[in-house]
Amino acid sequence: MELIRLEKSTVVFENEGRKVYGLKDVNLRINEGESILVLGESGAGKTTFGRVIVGLQKLTKGKYFYRGKDYRKNMKLLRKEVQYVYQDPISALNQSKTIRDSILPSIKKWRKVRGEKLEEELDNLLKSVEIEPELKNRYPYQLSGGQAQRINIARALSTNPRVLVADEPVTMLDASIRVGIVDLLTSLKNDRGLNLIMITHDLALARYVNYRLGGMRSIVIYGGRIVEEGNFSEILSDPLHPYTKFLVESSEDLEGVGSQEILKKMVYQETNDLPLKGCPFAPRCPFVRDACLNSFPEVAENPHRVFCYIYS
Ligand SMILES: Nc1ncnc2c1ncn2[C@@H]1O[C@H](COP(=O)(O)OP(=O)(O)OP(=O)(O)O)[C@@H](O)[C@H]1O
Ligand code: SF4
Ligand SMILES: [Mg+2]
Repeated sequence: MELIRLEKSTVVFENEGRKVYGLKDVNLRINEGESILVLGESGAGKTTFGRVIVGLQKLTKGKYFYRGKDYRKNMKLLRKEVQYVYQDPISALNQSKTIRDSILPSIKKWRKVRGEKLEEELDNLLKSVEIEPELKNRYPYQLSGGQAQRINIARALSTNPRVLVADEPVTMLDASIRVGIVDLLTSLKNDRGLNLIMITHDLALARYVNYRLGGMRSIVIYGGRIVEEGNFSEILSDPLHPYTKFLVESSEDLEGVGSQEILKKMVYQETNDLPLKGCPFAPRCPFVRDACLNSFPEVAENPHRVFCYIYS
């Protein structure tokens, strides 16, 4: 059953007087229980995408339906069912409150638990993210990064959500504890049948998430546009879009994929200077042609979805 539908969803920002697309004409449908990987470099529009899904970012144009209803008329349900896990776990928590005081109001509000049961519910929630309940009396600055991220996940779960948007959830953590957090997120997804929307710039991490959950659908974003979409393993082994080829070939942790040719030909470009018309990748693309400068290509299925004039 359809849970999320984006139709030509567009977010325009003003950056020092320049127009920037945080998201541009994104069409996407996500069914209940379906998880996706959102891939792309810094500034591609991944966080904007995540914030739109959660209802934290208004659309400038286009539509977003959650459970078939326009997001603007569905904010109460969105707040309960769609939760965000932030990149920086410590600053995502309220610094002046203990963990207990940060999470209890949400349990009370969304789980309709009262009295002694409240404390029990909180303890169980903390245990479900492998945190000792005694830690609930601490303040965020008294936690390690890994503990803080587990507590953010517990806070997200306190509303009993259906969708978890995890935006680079381990990027700021020590390498040694990253796997533990990803294992927790993927287990929660499996145990609770959640939709996990995992946002990452790191293909090695994406590969691990895909290994844990299997057969994940992925979207590759550039300049706020979806440029490629399909099964993650297929995208990794047979990237079609020049930008995806670049991502795959520049990923140090992946071996034997491509010839590095794209990397050598790639033009470096600050993301804020992207063209507003045509293909956003045109200024960097070794294969650019006239059509690319005028309009964004239609989708081609070759064998998975790609938006590039090489294929359409
Ligand atoms: N609040 C804002 N005001 C102005 N411009 C913004 C704002 N938020 C995002 N942008 C711009 O929108 C584009 C997409 O940003 P976004 O944060 O979604 O990218 P990202 O893929 O999450 O990048 P990163 O990997 O660095 O987190 C960028 O050009 C960014 O500068
Ligand atoms: S549409 Fe054109 S500019 Fe964009 S990636 Fe394809 S060939 Fe390159
Ligand atoms: Mg981001």
